[in-house]
Amino acid sequence: MGAHLGRSDGVLAIRPISVLEAVAIVDAQDAQMVRRFGWGAPLTLPASQVVVRRWVRSWQSLGLEPNSAIVDEVTGQMIGDCEAELRGDGFVHVLYAVFAPWRGQGVAERAVRLLADYSAEAFPYCPLLFRVERDNVASLAVARSVGAVVTGQEVVSDGRRLLHLMVAVDDRCRVGAAGEP
Ligand SMILES: CC(C)(COP(=O)(O)OP(=O)(O)OC[C@H]1O[C@@H](n2cnc3c(N)ncnc32)[C@H](O)[C@@H]1OP(=O)(O)O)[C@@H](O)C(=O)NCCC(=O)NCCS
Repeated sequence: MGAHLGRSDGVLAIRPISVLEAVAIVDAQDAQMVRRFGWGAPLTLPASQVVVRRWVRSWQSLGLEPNSAIVDEVTGQMIGDCEAELRGDGFVHVLYAVFAPWRGQGVAERAVRLLADYSAEAFPYCPLLFRVERDNVASLAVARSVGAVVTGQEVVSDGRRLLHLMVAVDDRCRVGAAGEP
């Protein structure tokens, strides 16, 4: 693929997650993350380490499934994570979580713009796909902020009904290094 995930808008940055950050995810998780990602129970440290190691291996060997840390540019602190995963059907599945203390400050919208920018470079012919529960108002607003529109829905194995929102290739939001679209 050749595209580098790491990018910044001057306020926050996204960059490949490191194995050590499995701890940060466990420490920062809250009921919303457990519920919205369908984990069933809080993530344990060993489980988080397994998942993060898989992300890192996948990123290093294939350049795929680039799960990123969202990092505050001033403090360098990890404040969430996000992902743009190329699926077998050609959609780039976009996911995100912002740790509770940093919610409601535009972090997710900024991170998703950076991910959209990365995806336009890494997967130029692939539309973006968001899968969001109907009552997840904040997440729906994040998807819509990059122009996603509802195209369908699915029921996942744990019974949750997810809306599909898509951004077509031609509509994909791009941001420059300065950060604003
Ligand atoms: C969804 C989530 C990532 C949003 O992160 P965030 O950084 O707080 O979002 P932003 O501050 O960028 O706000 C995005 C939009 O949601 C709105 N919003 C934020 N929090 C909200 C809330 N609690 N209720 C309603 N709207 C909310 C904002 O006003 C903004 O909308 P606007 O552009 O129309 O003004 C965060 O709530 C989270 O991590 N939730 C748990 C995990 C999750 O649900 N992930 C998504 C799974 S599909």
